Amino acid sequence: MKTVELKLGVRTYPIYIGVSLTHIGDYIKEKNITGKVLIITNTTVNKLYGDMVMDSINRSGFEVSITKIADGEEFKTLDTVNTLYQVCIDSRLDRNSLIVALGGGVVGDIAGFVAATFMRGIPFVQVPTTLLSQVDSSVGGKVGVNHPESKNMIGAFYQPMMVYIDISTLKTLPEREFNSGLAEAIKYGIIRDRKYFTVLERDMMKIKALNIERVEYTVWRSCQIKKWVVELDEKETTGLREILNYGHTIGHAIEAATNYKTYLHGEAVSIGMVCVGKIAKELKLLNQMWTHRIERILARADLPVTHKIPVNKIIDKLILDKKVLNGKVRFVLTDGRPGKTIIKDDIPEELIKKALEEQKV
Ligand code: NAD
Ligand code: GLY
Repeated sequence: MKTVELKLGVRTYPIYIGVSLTHIGDYIKEKNITGKVLIITNTTVNKLYGDMVMDSINRSGFEVSITKIADGEEFKTLDTVNTLYQVCIDSRLDRNSLIVALGGGVVGDIAGFVAATFMRGIPFVQVPTTLLSQVDSSVGGKVGVNHPESKNMIGAFYQPMMVYIDISTLKTLPEREFNSGLAEAIKYGIIRDRKYFTVLERDMMKIKALNIERVEYTVWRSCQIKKWVVELDEKETTGLREILNYGHTIGHAIEAATNYKTYLHGEAVSIGMVCVGKIAKELKLLNQMWTHRIERILARADLPVTHKIPVNKIIDKLILDKKVLNGKVRFVLTDGRPGKTIIKDDIPEELIKKALEEQKV
């Protein structure tokens, strides 16, 4: 078991990695929760882990109930939030109660938003069960839902009181979802830690074979890097948190250009990371050896590094983003080598097009 402590003054919290869902009740008890506990999960995760978490919390002496939302990004809406408020009221939750978010990033974002807003905020615990949520979305306090016009438009910064990660839940995760999370883990190596990138290169096959020790290390190192960023820029005011968007500018445009149907988030980010590698190479911010290594590690994680989308469709989505972002599209690039980043908002459109054309098959 490994622990990372995210230090934010009175909102400091631990991230436990490699703990078992069967013991979560004991950990909640240590946090001095005196009221009722409501587990929010989805239909898929409930079948796999609902009873286990419910039993553990029950055994620790809490009055606990569970509610399930439908599975899918399309349910990450204010309608679902409204339904959950009603459940909170019917379950008689108050400020001494606790919400437990059991599931992937969708459940974590929605349940966290409900916790942030119900009675102006009640405590919540993140129990992420996808690799993406374990290395990224459960850490850092961004919670929220989608608006019909834009993803993650409605939300808050609201930190959990702990993040409780049972690596063994990844055994039931579909491989494509696992790979999607790997894209974010690789991203941390590129933006912050060249040595970690090298370890991921060395261990990729073991990680994909779910070698528990190596997966635990990967989640731990990823959480440490995210912790470093969030501690220095919790609410995205200093600019540092933007480095987490490495590969995401193009990734988001690719997701939008394909109506969020063709690619999982990490897959689109993978294509985006290859693309910004090519742009950085053209700008002499990354040499060929590194662009090649980045492409190779993503391919070994079975992530897409090429695409079949008409380049103009992706550019159109970038231009749409540009309108929203005061006429500038911001790119996170490596600055000379992985581990160091630079933000650029003046990349010529021709250069972006060229990189995307090179990737098109
Ligand atoms: P997800 O929550 O949709 O989970 C993916 C699929 O895996 C779902 O079908 C889910 O039911 C299933 N699943 C979850 N755990 C499982 C398990 N252990 N075994 C079998 N199936 C399991 O997707 P995700 O990739 O975890 O999260 C994506 C969401 O996270 C998006 O909404 C994105 O906007 C959000 N996100 C938020 C942040 C943040 O900082 N808050 C960061 C990144 C992404
Ligand atoms: N996933 C981006 C962030 O937490 O800021």
